[in-house]
Amino acid sequence: MISVRRDRPARARLSALGAYVPDRVVTNADFVARMDTTDEWIFSRTGIRERRYAAEDEATSDLAVRAAQAILDDAGVAAADLDAVIVPTCTPDYLFPSVAALTADRIGARRAAAFDLQAACSGFVYTLAQAASMIESGWADNVLVVGAEKFSNLVNPDDRSTSILFGDGAAGALVTAGDPGSTNGFLGFDLGADGSLGCELLIPVGGTRHPAAKAFEPQDAYLQMNGREVFKFATRAMEETTSRLLDALDMSIGDVDLLVAHQANQRIIDHAVGRLGVDPSKVFNNVEKYGNTSAASIPLALTEARDQGVLAPGMRVLLVGFGAGLTWASTIVSYEP
Ligand code: ACO
Repeated sequence: MISVRRDRPARARLSALGAYVPDRVVTNADFVARMDTTDEWIFSRTGIRERRYAAEDEATSDLAVRAAQAILDDAGVAAADLDAVIVPTCTPDYLFPSVAALTADRIGARRAAAFDLQAACSGFVYTLAQAASMIESGWADNVLVVGAEKFSNLVNPDDRSTSILFGDGAAGALVTAGDPGSTNGFLGFDLGADGSLGCELLIPVGGTRHPAAKAFEPQDAYLQMNGREVFKFATRAMEETTSRLLDALDMSIGDVDLLVAHQANQRIIDHAVGRLGVDPSKVFNNVEKYGNTSAASIPLALTEARDQGVLAPGMRVLLVGFGAGLTWASTIVSYEP
């Protein structure tokens, strides 16, 4: 990316959406067949009926490439015109190179800057903030944001409390430079993290704290989660980040047309929606079909809401994420295809 400052600032616009999920459906019955659980337990605690798993030889960037192509098709923008490709992910192909660099190469985004952003399930909203900042400060015109995750390789298949929760998928958005006089676009962001709670949700092995080359217990190479603590954090974070953002924008929850939250668990969403007083008819969920796809979950839900006619142009949409870090993020944005 070579950029020169524009004289006239632009307003960042969320102009296109797209998603890709692998074909393989893993149902609750598949878990019941090999561990001590029931469809009733899984559905009543999480709202999940099924999730998608990528093939053994598919990695996160393979999913990201398919979603990136869907977004570019929706936008009618050529990969060659992208200034940056940013991939929020916490399940990259490798520690390095980044998923974004691999994805940019395969879609032909030859002049794009490319990097990953690690804020786990809050990653999509964090990355929208990054993309909007690059555009509104005049350094970029087209930024592709693709949340992509392959959790099926990183959850312990023998751990019934975590394996049932996660799925694979990729989805995202194009953020483009729009009319500087517009009052739409991204109205604001609330982003945060509390690293003192980082140990509640982590993969212990594979980084510099415990390199993969040193001996380790097999379960330490997989995601570990204190489900109860994360549940408490998530419901509190969803409510607090939304209230802070609405206060800062001098808006009320009634000014929002649609709420799309990180699809981790139906109970977390219902709890926060109740506390915030959101009209349930303004909430779009698809956790039932895909489970928790982390950084891909919000754009996967947004894309499906668009495809079902629930998300219409001009709507003011509240996006709320929370996840490992522990992190949280919210924004209000109008969808302007
Ligand atoms: N089937 C049957 N029983 C189970 C299962 C299962 N799949 N999993 C756990 N249990 C049992 C436990 O062993 C426990 O039994 P015990 O009382 O005999 O010890 C019992 O169910 C209750 O366990 P809890 O962990 O207290 O169950 P809880 O009601 O809290 O539900 C859950 C667990 C669904 C994981 C919940 O805590 C949760 O959703 N937490 C948040 C998870 C989340 O959303 N994380 C996302 C952040 S995502 C990111 O950033 C990567």
